Amino acid sequence: MTQELNTKPASYTVKHTEALTWVQQVAELCKPDNIQWCDGSKEEYNRLCNLLVDNGTFIRLNPQKRPNSFACFSDPSDVARVEDRTYICSRRKEDAGPTNNWIDPKQMKNTLQGLFDGSMQGRTMYVIPFSMGPIGSDIAQVGIEITDSAYVVVNMHLMTRVSSKVMDVLGEDGEYVKCLHSVGAPLSPGQQDAKWPTNPTTKYIVHFPEERSIMSYGSGYGGNALLGKKCFALRIASVMGKEENWLAEHMLLMGVESPDGQKDYIAAAFPSACGKTNFAMIIPPEEFQGWKVTTVGDDIAWIKPGRDGKLYAINPEAGYFGVAPGTNEKTNPNAIKTIAANTIFTNVALTDDGDVWWEGLTKEPPKNLTDWTGKKWDPASGKPAAHANSRFTVSAGQNPAIDSAWENPKGVPITAFVFGGRRSTTIPLVYQSANWAFGVYMASTMGSEMTAAAFGEVGKVRRDPFAMLPFCGYHMGDYFNHWLQFGRGLPAPPRIYGVNWFRKDAEGKFIWPGFGENMRVLKWIVQKSRGEVNAVESPIGWMPTYDDIDWSGLDFSHEQFESITTIDREEWKTELLQHAELFEKMYDKLPKEFIFMRELLLSSLWRSPEKWKLEPERF
Ligand code: OXD
Ligand code: MN
Repeated sequence: MTQELNTKPASYTVKHTEALTWVQQVAELCKPDNIQWCDGSKEEYNRLCNLLVDNGTFIRLNPQKRPNSFACFSDPSDVARVEDRTYICSRRKEDAGPTNNWIDPKQMKNTLQGLFDGSMQGRTMYVIPFSMGPIGSDIAQVGIEITDSAYVVVNMHLMTRVSSKVMDVLGEDGEYVKCLHSVGAPLSPGQQDAKWPTNPTTKYIVHFPEERSIMSYGSGYGGNALLGKKCFALRIASVMGKEENWLAEHMLLMGVESPDGQKDYIAAAFPSACGKTNFAMIIPPEEFQGWKVTTVGDDIAWIKPGRDGKLYAINPEAGYFGVAPGTNEKTNPNAIKTIAANTIFTNVALTDDGDVWWEGLTKEPPKNLTDWTGKKWDPASGKPAAHANSRFTVSAGQNPAIDSAWENPKGVPITAFVFGGRRSTTIPLVYQSANWAFGVYMASTMGSEMTAAAFGEVGKVRRDPFAMLPFCGYHMGDYFNHWLQFGRGLPAPPRIYGVNWFRKDAEGKFIWPGFGENMRVLKWIVQKSRGEVNAVESPIGWMPTYDDIDWSGLDFSHEQFESITTIDREEWKTELLQHAELFEKMYDKLPKEFIFMRELLLSSLWRSPEKWKLEPERF
């Protein structure tokens, strides 16, 4: 009976009567066996990890190899975000726009009401007060997640700031985002629980932007269930940002310090599968004596104009939910150090001595692996041992390259925005947009070649404006307009750059070495923003000449540089035609400027040679 449940925390006071009422109503609907109010303490984390071990969800890793760390295998039906089950239920369909799934909020609520009714039977309902961003920061926001998954609670401990102090910030009537989550697997009395409870057939990830609330049913995995991340910090926050003149972006944040001690902060957006976490934790090549790169965030940035006219950004998250496959000593040495202890691994493979492994961690897989489905792995099977979307969850504070200001409530000042996709042709290594509006155009039309069949044909370019396509909580056309308008209000807007690490040669091999070598491009970006290096005007913006890039320690020829910087008119013709396809999709809200900008680009390409190259005499 609900009356017997703890509808108030025992160890701290909640003055927010509306929040207490909401918790009570949710308990009445979901009918859990009991309620636990979380306080974010170490004791709570350890207790729940032990519980998950006892339930068989967690496997404690060998403490000699990976202290205080756990692995778990999800249900095979629950391995990734489910974009086709994700909805933006704004009151009006036109506010969700053509790139979001929409159902009338009343109808959706009816459906969800039915699903949540009794959904927590036989389970504990956890109430998690959390802050996105340093508690009390002007840029931070508060949420309360109610969930029936202990896995979600411990992951939220690492990914957000879970604390009873959040309730003090809320006071009697502060605003918060309601995040309701259930794995959708009620237990009848005596029924044995699954190791990874989930609803294999019914999943809904639903946002009600006007109400600032989220309801997620049926999945226990990542962004579907850790509601502070994509649901709150991007989809709901993007709506808040539009209304309140700030930005919630799918961007990493990094500090770049030159040997003279000058420091700049860069915000960079990349679609999934473009090495975003690697870039956020980049280690400069040895020859770059005195250059330091530090991480503020690896996935999301909230950005507000300060009184001084500069833009200030925080990382609303407190941890990393990083993709494991491909992470190794070469691609991301800082990540390897970060996850040495106190880490939760989901869907990686296990070694016979109680450690973890994934494709790309070492050249040769160790013998006797257990694969992500919990079975002995057969290397001859052709199947990967770790799931392609297997993850590590870890506190950002463990990153050896964490920026000293990463928890500064004021945020860090942004010098430049960088946008990049995975493109084997067309897009050059780096260029700077002529101005804010062209930068917004460029970011709005950015695309990435698909690497996994999940989204469609492998190799085909998927337009992913600002890398926000799956994460914008409103009409993408309104989003473009918001960016344009936002820039108009800035006395000195940050510079905007495009990058592409992925151009290929005729044999299909990557030309640019990537990883740590991307520092060469980053250095040019920072110095260009400071006015310390040169550039030449190309048909699409400003580009560095060969001599403007620091090549110390890397053998990269003029010809190679030319092959990743040439602008090919035919390729761009195709590119601009595809922009038109995107524009048609959102014709009703597309900024008018975009049509003229596309025409300007076309004429600039036609005024230039068919294959525009950086002039050889400049080499
Ligand atoms: C992520 C994503 O998991 O962008 O961060 O898909
Ligand atoms: Mn992301």
